[in-house]
Amino acid sequence: MSDDIQEAFERTRAAGIIAAGALDEVVKIIKPGITTNQIDSLCYEFINDNGACSAPLFYRGFPKSCCTSPNHTICHGIPGNKTLIDGDIINVDVTSFKNGWHGDTSRMFYVGEVSIKAQKLIEVTYGSMMKAIKILNKKTSLGDIGSTIQTYVEKEGFSVVRDFCGHGIGKKFHQEPNILHYGKKGTGPKLKPGMIFTVEPMINEGKYEAKMLNDGWTAVTKDKKLSAQFEHTVGITETGYEIFTLSKKELNHPPYSV
Ligand code: MF3
Ligand code: CO
Ligand code: CO
Repeated sequence: MSDDIQEAFERTRAAGIIAAGALDEVVKIIKPGITTNQIDSLCYEFINDNGACSAPLFYRGFPKSCCTSPNHTICHGIPGNKTLIDGDIINVDVTSFKNGWHGDTSRMFYVGEVSIKAQKLIEVTYGSMMKAIKILNKKTSLGDIGSTIQTYVEKEGFSVVRDFCGHGIGKKFHQEPNILHYGKKGTGPKLKPGMIFTVEPMINEGKYEAKMLNDGWTAVTKDKKLSAQFEHTVGITETGYEIFTLSKKELNHPPYSV
């Protein structure tokens, strides 16, 4: 691959490792009684201690260093003084910016003991992301990604959020192309070696419709049922793909045994 692509991959790798490292730290503190502000502070400190910046902080006016999206929150929840309680599920989404490049990743966490239903939603959401990542190569079309996720998720009885999508990422936090998490096999442009983007399906227990809260950021399910999300930043290679945001400690999905 060209020098430019190699440099892009190296820098995205460096940013991705820091974002994933922040989530590995979250694993250590998440339990009933902590606030989403505590998660935010931890992410802020970890990212800065590793010589990077948090990309969400002040991005289009976003006030915090990560997104915390519990229970029926789909995405972009703002950390605050909300205390997590036993049985909650929560997504933490972290994006680091290092040497001019971004790494974007999110995981779900259990707070104490969570319902079987919530566990299943989380398992299917993680599975849908990984199934889509595993098909990535230069012959894959954008529609294959969406259709892989949608087919699996709907077979399991859940729904794919339409209002938010994955995105190209690099020197900019969000850029072309949009990566839809639903769609038809074989449609849309084919992937090219060197492309870097996120796969970040948001999956609902009930219907897919979303509603925006008055803060202008927080998206919740319209039917107030649970929602889950995972996110990796990936790159297309000559032979397949690379995931830039894997956990070095193999803490990619719950239950996390630490
Ligand atoms: N990290 C989110 C994503 O996956 C974007 C968050 S933007 C923010 O694209 F401003 F809400 F932080
Ligand atoms: Co993203
Ligand atoms: Co993200």
